[in-house]
Amino acid sequence: MQGQLDMEGALTARDRVGIQDFVLLDETTEAAFLSNLNKRFSKDLIYTYIGTLLVSVNPYKELDVYNNKQMDLYMGVNFFELPPHIYALADNAYHTMLAEFNNHFILISGESGAGKTEASKKILQYYAVSCPSTALLNTVRDKMLMSNPVLEAFGNAKTLKNDNSSRFGKYMDIQFDSEGEAVGGHILNYLLEKSRVVHQNHGERNFHIFYQLVQGGEEDLLHQLGLERDCQHYNYLTQGECAIVASINDKDEWKTVKNALQVVNIDEINTNHLFGIVASVLHLGNVQFDSDSKGHALMNNNPELRWVSNLLGVDAHTLQEGLTYRKIEAQKDQVLSPFTIDHAIYARDALAKAMYGQTFTWLVNRINESMENKDSSRKTVIGLLDIYGFEVFYVNSFEQFCINYCNEKLQQLFIQLTLKSEQEEYEAEDIEWEPVQFFNNKIICDLVEEKHRGIISILDEECLRPGDATDLTFLERLEDKMGNHPHFVTHKLADKMTRKTLERGDFRLLHYAGEVTYCVVGFLDKNNDLLYRNIKDLMCQSKNAIVRECFSTMDPDNRRRPETVATQFKSSLLKLTEILMAKEAWYIRCLKSNESKQPGTMKLFEFDPCLAHILLTGQFDEALIRHQVKYLGLMEHLRVRRAGFAYRRKYEDFLKRYKPLCPATWPHWRGVPADGVEVLIQHLGYLPNEYKMGRTKIFIRHPRTLYATEDAYERCKHELATRLQAKYKGYKAKGEFRKQKEAATKIETCWRGVQARKEREKRAWAVKVIKQFIKGYMTRGQAKITDNSEYLAFVRQNYLNRLKDNLPKTVLDKTTWLSPPSVLTEASEILRKLHYRLMVRKYVRGISTQRKAQLQMKLITSSLFKGKKDSYPQSVAQPFVDSRISEQDINPRALQMIRNEHIKYGVPVVKYNRNGFKPRPRQLILTQAAAYVIDEAKIKQRVLYAFLKGISVSNLTDGMVVFHITCEDPKQKGDLVMQCDHLFEFLTKLGVIANKQNVIKVVQGSIKIEIQAGKESAVDFGTGQEPMVYKAKNGHLMVVATRARTR
Ligand SMILES: Nc1ncnc2c1ncn2[C@@H]1O[C@H](COP(=O)(O)OP(=O)(O)OP(=O)(O)O)[C@@H](O)[C@H]1O
Ligand SMILES: [Mg+2]
Repeated sequence: MQGQLDMEGALTARDRVGIQDFVLLDETTEAAFLSNLNKRFSKDLIYTYIGTLLVSVNPYKELDVYNNKQMDLYMGVNFFELPPHIYALADNAYHTMLAEFNNHFILISGESGAGKTEASKKILQYYAVSCPSTALLNTVRDKMLMSNPVLEAFGNAKTLKNDNSSRFGKYMDIQFDSEGEAVGGHILNYLLEKSRVVHQNHGERNFHIFYQLVQGGEEDLLHQLGLERDCQHYNYLTQGECAIVASINDKDEWKTVKNALQVVNIDEINTNHLFGIVASVLHLGNVQFDSDSKGHALMNNNPELRWVSNLLGVDAHTLQEGLTYRKIEAQKDQVLSPFTIDHAIYARDALAKAMYGQTFTWLVNRINESMENKDSSRKTVIGLLDIYGFEVFYVNSFEQFCINYCNEKLQQLFIQLTLKSEQEEYEAEDIEWEPVQFFNNKIICDLVEEKHRGIISILDEECLRPGDATDLTFLERLEDKMGNHPHFVTHKLADKMTRKTLERGDFRLLHYAGEVTYCVVGFLDKNNDLLYRNIKDLMCQSKNAIVRECFSTMDPDNRRRPETVATQFKSSLLKLTEILMAKEAWYIRCLKSNESKQPGTMKLFEFDPCLAHILLTGQFDEALIRHQVKYLGLMEHLRVRRAGFAYRRKYEDFLKRYKPLCPATWPHWRGVPADGVEVLIQHLGYLPNEYKMGRTKIFIRHPRTLYATEDAYERCKHELATRLQAKYKGYKAKGEFRKQKEAATKIETCWRGVQARKEREKRAWAVKVIKQFIKGYMTRGQAKITDNSEYLAFVRQNYLNRLKDNLPKTVLDKTTWLSPPSVLTEASEILRKLHYRLMVRKYVRGISTQRKAQLQMKLITSSLFKGKKDSYPQSVAQPFVDSRISEQDINPRALQMIRNEHIKYGVPVVKYNRNGFKPRPRQLILTQAAAYVIDEAKIKQRVLYAFLKGISVSNLTDGMVVFHITCEDPKQKGDLVMQCDHLFEFLTKLGVIANKQNVIKVVQGSIKIEIQAGKESAVDFGTGQEPMVYKAKNGHLMVVATRARTR
């Protein structure tokens, strides 16, 4: 079925460590099998497949392969794609269930300590984590997970084989809805090893819960239960002499269990009842009996008994009576028959066992109630069967008989299911095949369970037979009935050699898994599991609700004798078989790697020859494993798997995987898949005897054929991968380039868009502004309104800005002022005035006193000549000096004569004499009182200011000046005619010094002069090309001036 799926994956990974699937081993010998197992185990690879069957070897150490990451890895992945793992099997079962909507079970088998319970927990955890869930379902999930610690506390114990050995069989259904959610669960329990409550072999313990309560129970609780915190105090805990075990932390476990009880909905009252029962069992174990003179059991004021009666809520006296007397009902009378001490002990132990056993069943029922899914919609289930493994002890009793019988039944089931499915497949596919020879253990099952003839029937008969049936009479009956059965031997029946290995009270069964010798002692009692009626009735009155419930429902039909333990067990196994047969099977075979519970690596001892055996037994104990491989039927299973055809696969799947190997099928086969496969294998050169074509599948006989195909596929895959890689790289590069280009175009478009939008905004803004500008312009003349306010502001600002850069630089510049817009006319005028005032102010402030004096002089000049004399304008720019003749330049003799008059100013002049107007260069010196005409050392003429009656100049550009002098003074020589280059300076100074400004006249055309008293002449002025001065024919002095340049 699923088996083929994993093979290709195993093939691809087969180079790793060993081979991941035994089906692909070249040889199917036990040696090859063990060697592969060892190879993998030494690398901590504890899982290997045989098809879909998972072989698991107990590593006895924590491996880092159960974390959530691993769970994720295996989730929904094909079986063959990853290395073997319990999660792969769990996942495959789950997905097949979902896909086919049918029920499944996972059978976990292996001997005690091989790891069955651990495996079942791993599977449960996997489902808890990986299945879809809701908050509501989480609580169901928690209950399923938490049922484990509770059931382990009450049903597991330390044995010689396993510190946490399950002492009951457990089948747990996990129910899934159509969505694959885990919605509920149900547990079936099988045959709890009750004898352990009252007796433990050396090195073994009672059930964990006793130690957990004594070690971990809170002070109050212990006090309430009348317990002491000392395991040694209790007979039921000390027989094995190992109450404390290093690998078990009872205190911690106590906490876990208490919490787990809450999770599975056991309330406080029931929890108290539960611990009351556990405590009363311990007290019961300490109940001792004395004997009276007749050897009858006696009990006097036993405090332990009082605790039991107290805790169970039963009458102490009746309890005491029940433990020391048997009530016999003879017709209507009841007779009390006293017990011997042995009997009393038997009755006590029977009560303890019954109480514990019933409580265990009660617990399972309560857990079931808490996990129950009441929704009636259809569900599918995955069952987990974790049932006690095949057991062989030094002394084997009734329990081992039952356990090993159970293993025979499961082996039978396995054979039927495996062979059936294999055979059905060949039939369905129309394939011929030769059945494989294997040992069918039906013969042993029959030996045990056959009606009227089987061991159980004979045992029951002995138990029910009136008279003094004993374990030995049972053995004799067996010998009678089974005398010549090939799988049954006793001391009596055995040949000489075998007899040596058997005691007289033993019988030996040749189980499929090996021989087991059972000691018949206790078989009848254990099978009867008798509880005296008076005790049972008493328990039905118990105030402890659990006890009352358990004992009331024990045997509903009071009149019929209860079924014996073996028969009950047989029927429960039959029911189990029915349950399992209706489901699809998955197998996990657990192997114990060594007897000493040692992990694989013990490097410390590696080089110590004395301890070498520890190394061997501590790791991979080959003999032990060989034995398990044998009795678990692994080799047979392997052979069955390989018998006909090692490999089968649906045509579609085969073609899908291998089609690249043939040009005709690659990349697509268009026809029917079966034809495609035919073409493909022809191309690969399969020989006719190497394969068969079924209806829907191809069957390949030898693994090597598949190897070759797979190897070819691997090579081809690489080539394909390279080609694909190259193509893909090209494709990717192209794609990348295209993407980049697209991106560039996109960016460009976007950018253009952005630009365009910006431009548009700008234009819109501009239009608005321009419109506003125009409106503003048009209404500029109006008073300020909204339309023109901005424009006017702009005009104003603009004008002011321009004005700022174009201001007149000097006071004289009257032209530069910018003409203002009409709104600013007034402001501009104000500004202009301000500016000029400012410039004037600046100018005035910058003038020195000298310059001021000079300017004052110039002002006088201006008032005298401005607009009157043509040469005036040119003179304005020429500064006046203090004097044109310094004192040194005056002849000392002349100077001598005038010094005391304070010389104020001197200037060279040309004097025209009165007789003929001859020009003579002279110095003209102005003093405080007079003007002197000096020729070298001679003062030629002295004109007292008092006599100076007038001063005339022409209006032209010449430098002529005429002093009109009063001629009353005889000394005066008449008017003085001179020509001076610095006329304005000279006349201004004179005007000031002599206070004569009012006598200075500007005359046009001609100036009359008095040459002598009474004799007149004139100076005539005219203009010409060249300046000339000459005596004209009329006797006047003619002065020709050049025309003034017009500015
Ligand atoms: N996968 C595993 N990884 C690590 N340790 C393991 C694993 N399986 C088993 N063990 C160890 O082996 C011990 C025994 O395993 P477990 O209790 O599952 O055996 P079992 O087959 O259920 O035995 P029994 O039949 O006695 O109940 C565990 O307590 C644990 O220490
Ligand atoms: Mg177990």
